[in-house]
Amino acid sequence: MTVRVPAKVNLQLAVGPRRADGYHDLVTVFHAVSLFDEVTVSAADRSAVRVSGEGAAEVPRGSANLAARAVTALARALSPRTDRTAVRIEIRKRIPVAAGLAGGSADAAAALLACNELWRAGLTGQELAEVAAQVGSDVPFALAGGTAIGQGRGERLTPALVAGTYHWVLAFAPGSLATPEVYAACDRLRAARSGAGRPPAADDAGGRNGAGGPGAAGRRSNVAGPKQPGSTVPGPPGPALSTALLAALRSGDPAAVGPLLANDLQPAAVSLMPGLRRTLTAGREHGALGAMVSGSGPTCAFLAADARQAGDLAVSLAGAGVCRAVVQASGPAPGATVWSGREH
Ligand code: C5P
Repeated sequence: MTVRVPAKVNLQLAVGPRRADGYHDLVTVFHAVSLFDEVTVSAADRSAVRVSGEGAAEVPRGSANLAARAVTALARALSPRTDRTAVRIEIRKRIPVAAGLAGGSADAAAALLACNELWRAGLTGQELAEVAAQVGSDVPFALAGGTAIGQGRGERLTPALVAGTYHWVLAFAPGSLATPEVYAACDRLRAARSGAGRPPAADDAGGRNGAGGPGAAGRRSNVAGPKQPGSTVPGPPGPALSTALLAALRSGDPAAVGPLLANDLQPAAVSLMPGLRRTLTAGREHGALGAMVSGSGPTCAFLAADARQAGDLAVSLAGAGVCRAVVQASGPAPGATVWSGREH
């Protein structure tokens, strides 16, 4: 049973303070893009994980593998209905590892869907999403795909209405960043800033595009859900959704979306990998409508006006020597899908 599953970028990633359980409350806009891993599961006498493709050497093979953990979580959820749960998991990677594209979460989501089919377990999408949330914060979105608002740790999803197709160029960095380290760096930067009593510097202002500052991210609402463009609902301090970004996404105009891309983890990712600043600058100089670090990084994502401009931008970035590799992708892409190897 083979499942194809997409990478994601976060069009907005608003990070609240660290919670008692170590996680951070988020408001994020997830967007699945057409860069896919494939995961095949088959019944076996002993569980095993095989990985090939992009970054395969860095993926753990044993029970630390996120896809293997997902299979264990599903078997536990089904117990005692299913007993023959040993599976061989083959992961063909195109999504780089520890790159801010949720590749590990994607593989976990694919393994969940594939085992649900293989074992004829018949869990509904909602039931699978509940198991997915136990495995990792980004796993429910990898099952769902499309574009969605994520809240809580990122696991509580509301679909977002999006018009048109968005064309992206993804610049892979020559290294990886561990998500917990990026969140920890974000906490440190914030503590240092509030200790010094000064606002963020322009280029580090929450990774916002355009002029920087809260206005550039659009007015933000503390409540998720459809609203008038730019409306603000008073609420407790915390991460807040950019209603202006949601309105731009509904309009289908990439030129409106580009300046509203915002990632609170960007300053932290850049502090850990300063070379990313050059990558982001190069993308902007070569005409990207928006430039940001994807999730916890270090992949940089650039929004283009159309497929043709994305092609030009990809060539320019590859030639500028500011990243390890460049790929083009479009979104929103579908979530985890049983895959016959052909486009339908
Ligand atoms: O949920 P997941 O295991 O993918 O998260 C990986 C790590 O990222 C967590 O252990 C935590 O350090 C950090 N994280 C966070 N707040 C979130 C999501 C992830 O601090 N909302």
